[in-house]
Amino acid sequence: MSGLLQSYAAKFTGTSSELLEKVYQHTLENHAHAHMISGHEQGRFLAGISKIKQAERILEIGTFTGYSALCLLEGLSEDGVLHTLELREEDAKTAQIFFNEHPQGDKIKIHLGDAKEIIPTLNELWDIVFIDADKVSYVDYYELVVPALAPGGVIIADNVLFHGQVLEDPITGKNAKAIHHFNEWVKQDPRTDQVLLTLRDGLLLIWKK
Ligand SMILES: C[S@@+](CC[C@H](N)C(=O)[O-])C[C@H]1O[C@@H](n2cnc3c(N)ncnc32)[C@H](O)[C@@H]1O
Repeated sequence: MSGLLQSYAAKFTGTSSELLEKVYQHTLENHAHAHMISGHEQGRFLAGISKIKQAERILEIGTFTGYSALCLLEGLSEDGVLHTLELREEDAKTAQIFFNEHPQGDKIKIHLGDAKEIIPTLNELWDIVFIDADKVSYVDYYELVVPALAPGGVIIADNVLFHGQVLEDPITGKNAKAIHHFNEWVKQDPRTDQVLLTLRDGLLLIWKK
């Protein structure tokens, strides 16, 4: 999206909390891979879906510094739980510090380790799954969570345009190839339907037929 369109979209998107602004600024100033953070418009989208769904069980794959988890928390029901999975201890620690600053932060459970090993241990039916970790594992994550979607549950997969590299012919990058393979995989899956949204780096919103 052009810079002007981006600014216009940001201007007419609702505001984020002070805590979210703090997480965003802290990540920009201190993290070598700050570009991975969801950011304002995507964050408002995640918060909106969570509120519409009034989700009871949310799974996030890829916590990073906690920004998207705090957005998803906004719609979590009173007795809801948000499980978020992170491989890197340092990021999980940073996220936990920010979760502790939120009055509902104890509803977020961080699991440290490889998401592929942790997901099968979580015996839940998911209202929302946000896939935002290593791109080469997206199909594995998808296959692990589709059977565990609650009725009306949705999966949101991030970076499905992979910085526009999915348009290359042939696609050369490992991650772009993996993402294109994921997009093809979901498209041919008779169990689900989906829409690819061109928000930020592309979001695939998926639901069971
Ligand atoms: C794009 S960032 C997540 C951004 C975050 N959702 C946000 O919007 O602020 C991806 C995260 O996934 C984590 N990750 C990568 N591979 C993983 C794995 N196999 N299991 C769990 N987390 C993983 C990375 O360490 C990184 O923090």
